[in-house]
Amino acid sequence: MSKSPSTSFASLACGIDRAAKNDVPTTIVVFGASGDLAKKKTFPALFHLFEQGLLPKRVSIIGYARTQMTIDEFHKRATSHFSPDAKKDSVAAFLKVCNYVSGKYDVDADFQALRSEIDGHERAANISNECERIHVYYMALPPSVFVDVAGQIKRNVYDETCTNRVVIEKPFGHDLESSRKLSHDIGALFDEAEVFRIDHYLGKEMVKNILSLRFANVFYEAVWNRHYISNIQITFKEPFGTEGRGGYFDEFGIIRDVMQNHLLQVLSIVAMNQPQSLGAEDVRDRKTEVLRRILPLQLEDTMLGQYVGTKDGSKPGYKDDDTVPKNSITPTFAQCVLHVDNDRWRGVPWVIKAGKALDEAKMLIRIQFKDMPNALFPKLARNELVIQVSPKEAVYIKTIVKEPGLSTSLAMSELDLSYKTRYHDVKIPDAYATLILDVLNGDHSNFVRSDELDEAWRIFTPLLHQIEKEHVQPMPYEYGSKGPDGVYQFVENRAGYKRT
Ligand code: NDP
Ligand code: BG6
Repeated sequence: MSKSPSTSFASLACGIDRAAKNDVPTTIVVFGASGDLAKKKTFPALFHLFEQGLLPKRVSIIGYARTQMTIDEFHKRATSHFSPDAKKDSVAAFLKVCNYVSGKYDVDADFQALRSEIDGHERAANISNECERIHVYYMALPPSVFVDVAGQIKRNVYDETCTNRVVIEKPFGHDLESSRKLSHDIGALFDEAEVFRIDHYLGKEMVKNILSLRFANVFYEAVWNRHYISNIQITFKEPFGTEGRGGYFDEFGIIRDVMQNHLLQVLSIVAMNQPQSLGAEDVRDRKTEVLRRILPLQLEDTMLGQYVGTKDGSKPGYKDDDTVPKNSITPTFAQCVLHVDNDRWRGVPWVIKAGKALDEAKMLIRIQFKDMPNALFPKLARNELVIQVSPKEAVYIKTIVKEPGLSTSLAMSELDLSYKTRYHDVKIPDAYATLILDVLNGDHSNFVRSDELDEAWRIFTPLLHQIEKEHVQPMPYEYGSKGPDGVYQFVENRAGYKRT
């Protein structure tokens, strides 16, 4: 990766205090700036950082997309999902640093115009190319244009005199082969150190918290293994279907959309051994190491579902969406049992479950401990540690206590750390704000490395190909239900889960 020729000299020349990272002049280009992700996540996250004083003082944000828009139209779109409480002055100050360039994704001249725009802003701010500078290229784009845009950036925009960082959104490929091709094509253009593959689950507060819980508390790490843990469930439930996104979703399905990335990333952090340090490579080495020990998923260890409309007709079925083929067998629900074949976890089933159009919004990790080998209190329910990622951040331990009062019976209770109660003054940032800040700081710990990605696809690709080749039919489940019939029996029978 290229840097300014002599950073210390360059810093002096530009009067930059290198201790404060946010003094490095930075340009952030958002490709696909007219799109859904940009308006719902990227610009609100950038604004949040700006408002908190966490963006570099000399920052320039440039939206780029094909859509012709005036600057006012672009500003209106970029702010359309800001909180209604956003202070007008702050929004106005933010918009002063936000510009827009319209261009195609495969036309050299359009990218050269973008480069001129970047250079123009730097010149206007008296930032010479002798200074340390950061250029971030955020691809909020459909994957079909990732490689074209990456090639255009490298050919026409990339500036050898500064630090360049490319942010890529999922999906990173469709299976092992296409992911390898994508990694190869991107790798031919940029160093791995310049590439930030976003999995926004890695920016969520409770996912980031797993490392602290595990490795900063003596009692968790002591029981974090097959001797004490019976089974682990990682669950993702959404109460809405794919309305409006059916076209995109049908190409991918729930396994590629949520499991292969978000849920497997969470699993790898729960399962990994302690890293040497909190440095990005140490953390990612440990995650990759544990992924290598996961056997490829088998169809017989998997349950697939697709939602149908409600009986009263108030909610549509997946195939009622006009953009979804009427004979689609794409799963909108899946539940699978995985095994991590290492000394820590051998014999412990990991159930990952994800579904659209279910009964509630919930993302959690449920760690169920083994039965208490104790004759004093027979027939005890099992302890569980639950880390709730969303909607309300919480960590609780299902714990047996003496029923309060004169009774001597036992009762299941909870040691409950609900963030809303305990940390009510703290505003938990959106995952995208956290991750964009990491990009600005050049911290890769919460981004997916190419070998991790490869392992993730290795685990899922045989199953995905088998489902497609054999036209495996998903089981129907009603919109708003808990999933297909037998969803809970599956966890009990296949993973030995016992209801507490
Ligand atoms: P959009 O479909 O909104 O596309 C973004 C922009 O790309 C559009 O505004 C359009 O801009 C341009 N575009 C759309 N289709 C094409 C095409 N076929 N060829 C060239 N350009 C096209 O995507 P999203 O914003 O929803 O998603 C962007 C990326 O982020 C994707 O990789 C997605 O998987 C990922 N993502 C999205 C999430 C979301 O909530 N939306 C969540 C997590 C990840 P124009 O025509 O003006 O150039
Ligand atoms: C995205 C998936 O990556 O994650 C969507 O493509 C899903 O289908 C979303 O709805 C869930 O993210 P969150 O942050 O709302 O849990």
